[in-house]
Amino acid sequence: MKRFVLSRRWRILLSIVAVLQFAACDSVTVEKYHYNGIIATASPIATDIGLNILRDGGNAVDAAVAVGCALAVCYPEAGNIGGGGFALIYDADLGNITALDFRETAPASASRKMYLDSRGEVIASSSLLGAGAAGVPGTVAGLFEMWKKYGSMDWYRLLEPAIKLADTGFILDAYLTNKFAEYAKDLSIFPETKKVFFKNGAVLGQGDRLVQTDLAMTLERIGLDGLDGFYSGTTADMIVQSMQNNGGLISYEDLAGYRPLWREPVHFTFDSLDVYSMPPPSSGGVILGEILKILEPFNFIKYTPSHPEYMHIFAEACRLAYADRAVHLGDPDFTVNPVLELLDPQYLESRRALINLQSTANSSEIGSGLPEKSVVESESTTHFCIADKSGNVVSLTYTINASFGSKLVVDSAGFLLNNEMDDFSIKPGVPNMYGLIGGKANEIEPGKRMLSSMSPTIVMNGDRPLLALGAPGGSKIITTVAQAIINFTRFGMNLQKVVEHPRFHHQWLPDTLYLEVGGFDINIKQDLISRGHLIKEREPYSDLQIIYIGSNRLMMGASDPRKDGKTAGY
Ligand code: GLY
Repeated sequence: MKRFVLSRRWRILLSIVAVLQFAACDSVTVEKYHYNGIIATASPIATDIGLNILRDGGNAVDAAVAVGCALAVCYPEAGNIGGGGFALIYDADLGNITALDFRETAPASASRKMYLDSRGEVIASSSLLGAGAAGVPGTVAGLFEMWKKYGSMDWYRLLEPAIKLADTGFILDAYLTNKFAEYAKDLSIFPETKKVFFKNGAVLGQGDRLVQTDLAMTLERIGLDGLDGFYSGTTADMIVQSMQNNGGLISYEDLAGYRPLWREPVHFTFDSLDVYSMPPPSSGGVILGEILKILEPFNFIKYTPSHPEYMHIFAEACRLAYADRAVHLGDPDFTVNPVLELLDPQYLESRRALINLQSTANSSEIGSGLPEKSVVESESTTHFCIADKSGNVVSLTYTINASFGSKLVVDSAGFLLNNEMDDFSIKPGVPNMYGLIGGKANEIEPGKRMLSSMSPTIVMNGDRPLLALGAPGGSKIITTVAQAIINFTRFGMNLQKVVEHPRFHHQWLPDTLYLEVGGFDINIKQDLISRGHLIKEREPYSDLQIIYIGSNRLMMGASDPRKDGKTAGY
């Protein structure tokens, strides 16, 4: 007994030393830590559901399935079964990381010019609103595939909490109330959607209970029949009917033919750490790698996280990396992605050499592009990370693209469809809703996956996971994740500071350095302007979820205070 007490003390002491080592420059608050499991998600309800699965003996993948389904119920702006995403999974037994691609695909009858009119102009909102904007959903197939390979609990058991939650409903919190109010007009466009989110003609508000009986029945079919509960039978009938009623393209064959794909993660080193992130069809891993590798040789001793020279070189690295994104990246099954070339040290050296410490490059000289598209930008993707007591880790980002996706609920099936087709380059050179432009590599083709920025990431310290992290934010996902890694490793912030710290973003085009409003003082802004940056302040963005796993399995995590997520463990 005495021996045990002594060794546990040592365990804690050593773990704290490990934390301090990574938080050396900060006024460290040693955060709440756990040894058996940890979850960080955008929703307290989903976090609690996942934690119960871990407590009941489920592993990180079991919990991820339960969380993924729960978010589809309690976080409808982004949680989904009608969208798609990506997961990175660390298998503690094998000591390896795999990447699962369950991104949506273009329907078989999709075509390159489907969103253009006879004059070749983009038809307003056609890639954003309603059935015609939807790609073939991948989430259910993705969660099922993860579970088939790694899950340990009964499939139905994992869906049960979400089924119950949809059936009995839950009282809207302030966050969801505000979201519904913000999107009330869009959510009233389709009667199928109004049926779910409105009561007596008004969108649900604070104190209202959101009951989703149709969604409960769809989840029940998936729970009982697995893939067939979604990709064929009753649910498929409902999806195809919805397409026919609303001018969409998804067919029975598209649904039956959908396959998630295991892919090799993008891997690069940053300082002494190994970073693994999502490969194409997400641009996340490659662009994250370019940004971090371009910055790696700079001497950070003279910098703080809001030092204008650091912000300047970060922005310049982003300008160079995002210029590559627009040209080179797309679905690897349709286009050659020069991943190794983009992360080649000599190439990165040549890109780094373009950075002038005193002044900005001009985006139009690095590449060409059009002005920012004037649409309301949304960034409703969501990320969660989970670690279990055996050391397995899941880092998963999934989405229906815009907040509430295409705004169309599949009638009688109760779930929102994505509007992911907008992530294709619908007309080369024309920006999508994130202001990103693209070229041939990301053109629409039947069965193709649209380019993404989602960046579920796992950082390894030697042979053990150190961090799992990710975020929503469209194009801003990558800079959010890059800044989190730098803030933790180079600036020694603790996790809470990492999620809180003000963010800034540059994506080559538009040639603008975005700063979170209130995050940077006038001297910083003036310095950046004097270096040639065009600055725009914008509302706080993204919703970083991050977990840390120390030596001896000490686990900590943090959820972004910009939204209402929750980290919990046991
Ligand atoms: N729909 C946002 C992304 O995939 O990056």
